[in-house]
Amino acid sequence: MPIPFLLSLYFDGLPWWFPEPWRLAKFTTAAGALALTKWYSSGRRNTAERNMHGRVVLITGGTSGIGAVTAFELARRGAQIVLLTRQPPSDPFLVEYIDDMRKRTGNQLIYAEQVDLASLHSIRQFATRWIDNAPPRRLDMVVLCASTLTPPGGRRTETAEGLETTWMVNYLANFHLLGILSPALRAQPFDRDVRVVLTTCSSYIASPRLDEANKGGKDDWTPARAYARSKFALMVFGRAFQKHLDAYKRPDGMPMNARVVLVDPGYARTPGMTRWLTRGSLLGLLGYMIFYIFAWLLLKSPYMAAQSLLYAAMEGSLGRGAGGRLIKECMEVDTARKDVDDEEVAKKLWESSDNLIEKIEKQEAVKRALAKKEQEKKEEEAKQAAQVEEIEALIGTIKKGKAKEAQKKTGKTGEKNNNGNKSEKQNGKKAKSAANDAS
Ligand SMILES: NC(=O)c1ccc[n+]([C@@H]2O[C@H](COP(=O)([O-])OP(=O)(O)OC[C@H]3O[C@@H](n4cnc5c(N)ncnc54)[C@H](OP(=O)(O)O)[C@@H]3O)[C@@H](O)[C@H]2O)c1
Repeated sequence: MPIPFLLSLYFDGLPWWFPEPWRLAKFTTAAGALALTKWYSSGRRNTAERNMHGRVVLITGGTSGIGAVTAFELARRGAQIVLLTRQPPSDPFLVEYIDDMRKRTGNQLIYAEQVDLASLHSIRQFATRWIDNAPPRRLDMVVLCASTLTPPGGRRTETAEGLETTWMVNYLANFHLLGILSPALRAQPFDRDVRVVLTTCSSYIASPRLDEANKGGKDDWTPARAYARSKFALMVFGRAFQKHLDAYKRPDGMPMNARVVLVDPGYARTPGMTRWLTRGSLLGLLGYMIFYIFAWLLLKSPYMAAQSLLYAAMEGSLGRGAGGRLIKECMEVDTARKDVDDEEVAKKLWESSDNLIEKIEKQEAVKRALAKKEQEKKEEEAKQAAQVEEIEALIGTIKKGKAKEAQKKTGKTGEKNNNGNKSEKQNGKKAKSAANDAS
């Protein structure tokens, strides 16, 4: 078959249905460029593997986008997954989500714990519950994937505790959570490879310096700047947290076995990114659907974006040597800013975060105590009102009973009177008949 075809090509030239060579060259070049772009933007695949059976992994943001894929893939490899979600574990959607995840991964060890990262109190409640255990609970990995970002043009918002939302969820929540979990991380046996995976974003490069900015204050706030600043702070904290872990003298004299890994997953088509691109509007969503081909071509799928996180979780070399490394495209890279490692910046950030948390927690504790008092007062008042009502009802019943009795009595005397009248009448009749008889 190929020989006759080649012969006919040689003697008769190109067949009529064969595209013109120039057009064919243009088409193949375009297709090749598209394929190359897609291949490049999809990024590298993780090739590292590690036995995850029995390892306990706490993960935030594990119900959406990159975090969801990471949680799923770790569960598929047998890890015990604790999803830290803002919804309570009884939430019907969450129950169904976990049920589905258990079925698809064949792993029953998937649970949820409620932690609202927009609330310092909620984080403290969960983390103190976690560490309040003797001997310390097993903890192999903390993957911090949750984040929030306001679409362009959106307004600055504050949490119920009065903190700027992006700063709180993307940075301060992680600082607070790891601060409380730190004893649990340090107490793990020395032969356990413990990892803290922090998810950053290359937008940190555009962040203003932390010491010159008013950290999410009203004056210089834009959605992009707030997000970049929160991610930059997370990176500075990540490196500082590694130093904090390393400074700990283990009672067994062994070196620190907990390591921080910073991961930049690259830009991906996740719900968070879609919200950003569509500006959270229906019109934006329509535009996104029309131009979806560009998003498909230039952005990674959540699965491909999760590859660097899986690498950070499973690559053997990251469990040895110094911690605090930055991973991008499944390989170690340098940070693009020197001040990520500036000790002065880190110290100031750590101290100001500590002070802020202490101040807010005190304020909130006072508020809660007052609210509790108010609630107790209301309950006491309601109790008293109920008692008064009960007594009034009792008095009412007694009064009614007495009234009935009185009615009965008056009824009887009435009867008696009636009876008296009757006998009088009868006596009269008798007298009348006697008189008649006499006459
Ligand atoms: N997507 C990208 O292009 C990209 C690029 C670079 C870096 N990253 C980073 O990669 C990580 C994952 O991004 P993504 O786009 O996959 O995220 P996403 O789809 O927007 O999901 C964010 C997750 O964070 C959770 N979350 C938000 N606020 C929370 C709160 N107050 N308490 C508890 N959980 C909360 C969400 O929970 P709910 O499901 O309850 O809302 C959700 O599971 C983030 O750290 C992000 O900064 C992403």
